Amino acid sequence: MIDQLSPIDRAKYASAHCAADFVEDGMRVGLGTGSTAAWLVRRLGARVRDEGLRIIAVPTSTRTAQLARDVGINIVSLDEARWLDLTIDGADEFDAELTLIKGGGGALLQEKIVATASDQMIVITDAAKEVKTLGAFPLPVEVIPFGWQASRALVEEVLTSMDVMGRQSSLRMNGDQPFVTDEGNYILDLALGRIGNARQLSLVLNQVPGVVENGLFVDIADQVVIGFSDGSCEMRDMTTGTAESTTKQVDLNYARNIFSDL
Ligand code: A5P
Repeated sequence: MIDQLSPIDRAKYASAHCAADFVEDGMRVGLGTGSTAAWLVRRLGARVRDEGLRIIAVPTSTRTAQLARDVGINIVSLDEARWLDLTIDGADEFDAELTLIKGGGGALLQEKIVATASDQMIVITDAAKEVKTLGAFPLPVEVIPFGWQASRALVEEVLTSMDVMGRQSSLRMNGDQPFVTDEGNYILDLALGRIGNARQLSLVLNQVPGVVENGLFVDIADQVVIGFSDGSCEMRDMTTGTAESTTKQVDLNYARNIFSDL
């Protein structure tokens, strides 16, 4: 089965597998959403089963919650857990400062709340998502359905004074209906092309009435684990002031066990 995975999927698997080693017995862990995070959940499920790892996990979406249950991970709400030791989640883009664009999977709101309620956030990703300047990936902005077109117009207006290249927004769709998040909201995807000042943009977007949250994660992530298709991974730690880097090799054959469990 591992041989049938695309190079990108093998890289995502390697990243998730490496990051799962940072989860220790007794931890309260935030579980991200997306295809990379799904590998993490499966790997943690295998550790729970094979090593007797005891964790309390808080999922960031109904999808992740379902998968976590399926693989035998004990999940609770964030209110029950109160605070987390570590959150591990994917990203759509990241830069050298470890500022992220997230929300491609539509779970940015819970993801941001869970990540900021954690002592530590590790980003799991493949190398293709590293960018010099954020913005090629459309920035997701979650808006409440009431008056969403007014919110959209206001968002486009505030973008005229921001350091970005494009200003087009589109309502995310699910077939012929608007995509609806776990909180019952809509998502506007902003085609910005280039984001000159992510911190400023994030603050300004969140001031627009109707905007609930945006997908820019500024000063939230601490480490990034970049996976490669050969099963190696590189860990960069931003908490030390300089990006210290270590590499490791994952046994890709281990993915067979994970697949056979599903
Ligand atoms: C989910 O809302 C997103 O923030 C994901 O973390 C992001 O889209 C990465 O997804 P993949 O791991 O599937 O690339």
